Amino acid sequence: MAGRLEGRVAVVTGAGSGIGRATALLFAREGAKVVAMDYVAPSAEESAELIRREGGEAVAVPGDVSKWEDVDRAVSEAVSRWGRLDVMVNNAGVFDGFTSCLDTDETLWDRVIGINVKGVFFGCKRAIEQFLAQGGGGAIVNVASVAGLGAMAGGTAYTTSKHAVIGLTQQVACEYASRGIRVNAVCPGGVVTGMTRDLMQDPRVDEMVKQTTPLGRWAQPEEIARAILFLVSEEASYITGEALRVDGGWRAK
Ligand SMILES: NC(=O)c1ccc[n+]([C@@H]2O[C@H](COP(=O)([O-])OP(=O)(O)OC[C@H]3O[C@@H](n4cnc5c(N)ncnc54)[C@H](O)[C@@H]3O)[C@@H](O)[C@H]2O)c1
Repeated sequence: MAGRLEGRVAVVTGAGSGIGRATALLFAREGAKVVAMDYVAPSAEESAELIRREGGEAVAVPGDVSKWEDVDRAVSEAVSRWGRLDVMVNNAGVFDGFTSCLDTDETLWDRVIGINVKGVFFGCKRAIEQFLAQGGGGAIVNVASVAGLGAMAGGTAYTTSKHAVIGLTQQVACEYASRGIRVNAVCPGGVVTGMTRDLMQDPRVDEMVKQTTPLGRWAQPEEIARAILFLVSEEASYITGEALRVDGGWRAK
């Protein structure tokens, strides 16, 4: 049976760990050729190697999403190697450790906003540039959070950044819908990844997530990856500008 992304070319940022790695692996199993971008070079390479070991096609591109030239390099690598780009997943992000407004200094603010917002903007911009050069079409998924839908799932900078990701997603979706480009976001709740591994050791955080989540547990990264796959696939052909909660019911309460 043909995979749902057979012959497609995808770039996944933050592909060296967690949700990004799970997404890159799932995409490859569904037939996509994948550029795995991450600013931790060995992690990106390990993800690409995992894909190749399963018989898929992947290349690692080390780079920082908050730098235009790095994002440009990741998309250009996809185009020079495989001739096109069909899917962009702007997943790379950093947490602020639940830092409140008064404790957020300019350095933390700039880092979180620079990666979580500017990085997603650069990813959208570079992907759309390529999609239009190909004559239109293409799908983007931006990884937001339940922190983009209200307070308390992050600190000041993180919550602000994820609200911005949803606004950016809606705006860009409307701007390019007429060219056949779909842009959506996913809003995960608590997911077991590199970002949360230490946080989960704090019983107060673990308990907070389980209490807040009607399904009563953390998600596995593959559960978010499956939602991203759906949004970039033909099954979601009439969905754009959506911020899909994949949160075990967190924001349903
Ligand atoms: N884990 C959760 O509970 C959770 C919940 C909601 C949303 N998210 C979002 O999911 C996304 C993925 O996070 P994760 O949980 O898989 O964390 P993770 O730390 O396991 O993975 C994030 C990856 O992004 C990479 N990265 C960070 N900054 C980068 C940059 N500037 N350029 C390139 N790569 C960079 C890291 O090296 C890492 O490999 C993030 O946007 C995060 O905000 C996570």
